Amino acid sequence: MLKIGLIGAGHLGKFHLNNWLEIPNVTVVGFYDTDDAIANSVSVKYKIKRFNSAEELLDSCDAIDIVAPTSFHYKLCALALRKGKHVFVEKPLTNTMDEAKSLLKLAVESNLKFQVGHVERFNPAFVALKNYKLEPMFIEVHRLSQFNPRGTDVSVILDLMIHDIDIILQLVKSNVSYISANGVSVLSDTPDIANVRIEFDNGCVANLTSSRISMKKMRKMRLFQKDAYIGIDFLEKKTEIISQNATSDKNVFTFDIDTGKGKKTVAIANPAVADTNAMKEELTAFKDAILKNTETAVTVLDGFRAMEVAHQILDKINKATI
Ligand SMILES: NC(=O)c1ccc[n+]([C@@H]2O[C@H](COP(=O)([O-])OP(=O)(O)OC[C@H]3O[C@@H](n4cnc5c(N)ncnc54)[C@H](O)[C@@H]3O)[C@@H](O)[C@H]2O)c1
Repeated sequence: MLKIGLIGAGHLGKFHLNNWLEIPNVTVVGFYDTDDAIANSVSVKYKIKRFNSAEELLDSCDAIDIVAPTSFHYKLCALALRKGKHVFVEKPLTNTMDEAKSLLKLAVESNLKFQVGHVERFNPAFVALKNYKLEPMFIEVHRLSQFNPRGTDVSVILDLMIHDIDIILQLVKSNVSYISANGVSVLSDTPDIANVRIEFDNGCVANLTSSRISMKKMRKMRLFQKDAYIGIDFLEKKTEIISQNATSDKNVFTFDIDTGKGKKTVAIANPAVADTNAMKEELTAFKDAILKNTETAVTVLDGFRAMEVAHQILDKINKATI
């Protein structure tokens, strides 16, 4: 039985808590939250122990789940690692690059399990593509949401775009060669909307738009590669593959196109998307990595790499607005 503690029982922390309470081979020993009213209501509603400090909670558990605001990630992760506890921390890994560098070193040297909450890796619309060869040369991404003051302690890059940066770094196995970016602070003190172009050594180009000041929500990624177009709708949990190779997927519709140099058959497939809960999957993966002593699904290095790109983007935005 793995003893888990939770730090930060706010909006997302409560979802984590609900999931932990359903995951087998886990005991939730309790939680710590600095806000007295939130802590009181959570301890009453969930009937779990409220601790008075992060230190006390850490001393009572094997692993910690950190869902406090991003500005506290570094301090809390470092404290947990120094106390010999496995760490799950919500995205982004930290706020600053100095913190990310220092945490990477601490985590690697600790030999403890460390997972970053890049939950889109577990989104069933993305998972549905696991057996499909993805080699994108052009990527177009839109991640839009309505304004909410939560999360605005950091820019839209660290708040929202970091999800897509992580996925793109998984898909494109090549180094970043050039980044151009622009962003505007509309309602908060940091960029609320941004457009970014990331170029890779292998020629791939990713064009990302993220906004937290939109009227509608959208989370779409479109991948274009030599033999196919792949659409991933992270919000609606739908996946589409349009290619010249009809797959064995039962959900395939085909039609012919006259290219002017002959006829080509095009197939449209909607791979089956499982009805899974991505957050529960990522927390279960963290538990399994500890109990089976395997590498975590989203390592501290993955979290660090996403931070490196995010901060290069932020530097470009800062330069563009000076
Ligand atoms: N993976 C995702 O899709 C996703 C979505 C939303 C938020 N997040 C991340 O989750 C984290 C929390 O976001 P949220 O929306 O739940 O914020 P929130 O403000 O709703 O909750 C944060 C909670 O942490 C508590 N807190 C603040 N400082 C603390 C400290 N030092 N120690 C203990 N508790 C502390 C607050 O009282 C609050 O209850 C952020 O890092 C955010 O980036 C991830």
